[in-house]
Amino acid sequence: MNILELITKKRDGQSLTPEEIDFLVHEYNNGGIPDYQMSAMLMSIYFQGLNNKETNALTAALAASGETLDFSSLDNMVVDKHSSGGVGDKVTLVLVPLVAAAGVPVAKISGRGLGFSGGTIDKLESIPGFSAELTTAFFMELVKKNNLAIMVQTESITPADGKLYALRDVTGTVENISLIAASIMSKKIAGGACAILLDIKTGRGAFMQSREEAFHLAEIMVRIGKDMGKRIVSVVTDMNQPLGYTVGNALEVKEAIAVLKGEGPVDVERLCIVLGGYILALSGRVRNPEEGQEQLRRLLESGAALEKFRQMVISQGGRPECLDDLTLLPQATFTDELRAPKAGYIREIDARIVGKVALSLGTGRSYKGEEIDPGAGVVLKYKVGDRVSENDLIACIYHNKENIRETACRELLNAFSIGDKKVETASIILGVVPPFPS
Ligand code: URA
Repeated sequence: MNILELITKKRDGQSLTPEEIDFLVHEYNNGGIPDYQMSAMLMSIYFQGLNNKETNALTAALAASGETLDFSSLDNMVVDKHSSGGVGDKVTLVLVPLVAAAGVPVAKISGRGLGFSGGTIDKLESIPGFSAELTTAFFMELVKKNNLAIMVQTESITPADGKLYALRDVTGTVENISLIAASIMSKKIAGGACAILLDIKTGRGAFMQSREEAFHLAEIMVRIGKDMGKRIVSVVTDMNQPLGYTVGNALEVKEAIAVLKGEGPVDVERLCIVLGGYILALSGRVRNPEEGQEQLRRLLESGAALEKFRQMVISQGGRPECLDDLTLLPQATFTDELRAPKAGYIREIDARIVGKVALSLGTGRSYKGEEIDPGAGVVLKYKVGDRVSENDLIACIYHNKENIRETACRELLNAFSIGDKKVETASIILGVVPPFPS
């Protein structure tokens, strides 16, 4: 096969065969195709798109480019959960111990956060001692023993996706729905779970800003999963305002622990229960998601989910005392307060702006490998729809950077829109693909 012929074929709108896609991925991964030719191929794909067969072939080739995990020796079906990323999204921290406490094994492989949406691994690693840098053998052992482990994605899993993503990032070819779907699904396929729950976020703080795009991505990913023999559901959820009240690593761990203690924000708890209900139904533990939700509510109330979280923290080297004494988690030196400029109803808290402010305080990375500040972040005091009086405390920023406090407060104020009329708050759950059960 000849790379130049494949580039021109795609450029001119023809479809590539699975063998040709396999060749592209394999050769690029092994250094047989230079970046400049792969860039041309990516741009051709960006404009011409990929059909279903091509997207499936790309997913399979990326998944096969590295290590693939196999949990078939376990009696129970292993599940995985993926979020397309949002601001204040601490769902995984609550959801995976909750589901594991219900007896469903969870094998969660996550990337580190990049950009304004945070990463689960960074959040968990703000717990002193906690490590997600596990070998795959230890990861699999923990899933078997505890029903739960969270591991950072290593270079041995889907290495071709890692290389291709880095190239897409610098060639303006990230925003193609087939490339995004294949990239995410390849990691899920390689992770070895039989059942997959996708939380596709849409809105100001999400990768997919329009609902149409989010549902389209959800449909493509569900189709890929089904074609590859997985049980899979996508839930499309709102990400216009941050989830919960906290944005920042240790701050989000604190809020997740509060949810596990039954004292957390309603939106986070509700989302975790709803998503968990689908996971339990997918895994065959319950007859329908509603029955799953009932069971999960009981596990939250009984403290079983908190104990599962504690077990995960201990097994992965973290200090469990942090769960009982939250002051042991990293704290920032400086706190600044933001006050309401006028009275009224909160109409909007722009998650993208909040995420960017948090990023500027040190919660995340602008480039791969950048140091992050585990104690930094933003705590909101209200949600959209709440009423405030003039000069009420509406948010606090926590940081170790004295020189940026004024800019950060000014920017954060731009996230708030306060009006005279009460706004109706929409449901956080916007839809399920496919409608369940199918
Ligand atoms: N996340 C991924 O893993 N891949 C993409 O292409 C986009 C988001």
